[in-house]
Amino acid sequence: MAVPFITEVKRTHTCGQLTKAQIGEEVVLFGWVQNRRDHGGAVFIDLRDREGLTQVVFEPDIAKEAHETAGQLRLEYCVGIKGKVVSRGSQVNPKLKTGEIEIKASDLTIFNRSEPTPFLVEDNIDTAEEKRLAYRFLDLRRRPLQQSLITRSKMNAITRSYLNDNRFLELETPFMGKYTPGGARNFLVPSRLNPGKFYALAESPQLYKQLFMVAGFDRYFQIVKCFRDEDLRLDRQPEFTQIDIEMSFVTQDDIFTIVEGLIKKLWGEVLGIDVPTPFMRMDFDESMAKYGNDKPDLRFGLEHIVLTELIRQHGAAGGVPMIWDAVEQGGIVKAMVVPGDKPMSRAESDKLEEFAKQNGAKGLARAKVAEGGEWTQSPLSKTITPALRQAINQACGVKTGDLLLFQFGRESLVHTVMANLRVHVAKKLGLIPEYGSGGVWKFLWVVNPPLFEYDEESKTWAAAHHAFTRPHDEHVQYLQTDPGRVKCHRYDVVLNGFEIGGGSIRLHDPKVQAEVFKALGIGEEEARVKFGFLLDALKFGAPPHGGLALGMDRLAMLLTGAESLRDVIPFPKTKTGTDLMTGAPGDVDDRQLREVHVRAAPLPQK
Ligand code: AMO
Repeated sequence: MAVPFITEVKRTHTCGQLTKAQIGEEVVLFGWVQNRRDHGGAVFIDLRDREGLTQVVFEPDIAKEAHETAGQLRLEYCVGIKGKVVSRGSQVNPKLKTGEIEIKASDLTIFNRSEPTPFLVEDNIDTAEEKRLAYRFLDLRRRPLQQSLITRSKMNAITRSYLNDNRFLELETPFMGKYTPGGARNFLVPSRLNPGKFYALAESPQLYKQLFMVAGFDRYFQIVKCFRDEDLRLDRQPEFTQIDIEMSFVTQDDIFTIVEGLIKKLWGEVLGIDVPTPFMRMDFDESMAKYGNDKPDLRFGLEHIVLTELIRQHGAAGGVPMIWDAVEQGGIVKAMVVPGDKPMSRAESDKLEEFAKQNGAKGLARAKVAEGGEWTQSPLSKTITPALRQAINQACGVKTGDLLLFQFGRESLVHTVMANLRVHVAKKLGLIPEYGSGGVWKFLWVVNPPLFEYDEESKTWAAAHHAFTRPHDEHVQYLQTDPGRVKCHRYDVVLNGFEIGGGSIRLHDPKVQAEVFKALGIGEEEARVKFGFLLDALKFGAPPHGGLALGMDRLAMLLTGAESLRDVIPFPKTKTGTDLMTGAPGDVDDRQLREVHVRAAPLPQK
């Protein structure tokens, strides 16, 4: 008689659970056939579920019917088995948690058969990612992805428990909101009920969480989807998840303490690693000078040296007209030392120039330091004065055999090229692994950035983050006279070269708010149209408040050592924003478009 699996005979264990301790017990397991071997008489399978693998053996003299059915089994069949746990004797598999035992099956049922799969459901496969994404439901059966998502689930649980213990309320905010300018580009949703009007999908719950503070909820958090129509990279997805936090009556330090506590708990409980707190802090300006960006990877040195002042001191007489010209035109000069104890061939250093050019540089000036501080392999060496050469050598702390790399020109470009070069050289020299952390976790707060950024094109000041970030009190006086000098209470938390979170103390004082708008060239009327509801809310006794959002996907990527965000998101989008499994974004017909009052424009000619 067939065993009534599922209805009456329930699963007793998972496939990753059984050890010597259960020898002799009758058990019931459900799962998928990972592999199957027919050894003449007996049929062996490895049965898989999310917890692991268990070996099951079907022998004709013990269970004739089950053995016959086992003959039909193929990879990825979904089955239920009943049987007895027995020792594997000398055939122990030390790689498996269940490697000491096997199940001698008495009963087998096939819940469902599987067609041959387009790729093998195994840990390491070299199937193209496109194919894996097209069959994501099969890809997700593979152990590395199962483990990543199990880790994510654990991260959610740890986050909720930690924030609940710290008096945070988990409150929800709308995804469909009003479009407000600034920040990332929004996805737009046409409104059927309001012809010609659009919702914007929330790029973050920023304004709503501030309204929660105005409403007196005091401490808010949400593990929340955010939507941004950005160009995608390995660490960017169009829909991604934030651990979003906002708190009233706090200083920047209070927020850091809460966030450091959460990260400590995540690393402790997921990896068993004790992350020392408080994290290191670095001023934005220092980070830009030494690393060229505000998310430095501190697992290695290769710091930049700013030479602008030195070049200025030597002026035209220094003998490097190209560099001097750049400084005269308001540019900056930076150098980086590739240490001589990790020598690079001439061909390799030529390749660095190619890399710099790919990153927008015109070229990459360089010099090899010879005995006595002479420069070789460099056009600069022909004209530079010994005095300037020595001064640069000294500022850069070079030794014989070191290679000096230079960039000069527009500040933002020099920073970007040198920042990318620093990481590129570090990878080349084997100072950091291509993926994963190499077991080194360098957390850092980057603090005190400028409130405004100067937009070269429009020749105006723009908010570097958003218009509701609180300037340092002592800098409020410069808001109109010298906006570039105003630093603010904004902070990013960085790990190994990734920005894993960012936030700010918000402006709650309507007077200073008005000053900031004025500095941004936003008039009263414009401010009303754009941010009316928030400005209204701030007038009714808004508490001092601030917050931060952590990028959950980036945390998961770093915690699991994954190569890209796609490996920690169950159903991710590709670089072009498509879902290869469902085919989204897809076509809709004219009737649907008419219903939402939208007419499709003809596709641009390719
Ligand atoms: P911010 O825009 O800095 O701040 O975002 C916070 C964190 O979210 C992650 N992140 C992303 N992750 C994956 N894909 C993306 N496209 C993406 N964009 C951002 C990053 C980032 O540090 N409302 C503010 C927070 C605040 O001020 O409280 C905000 O959204 O890890």
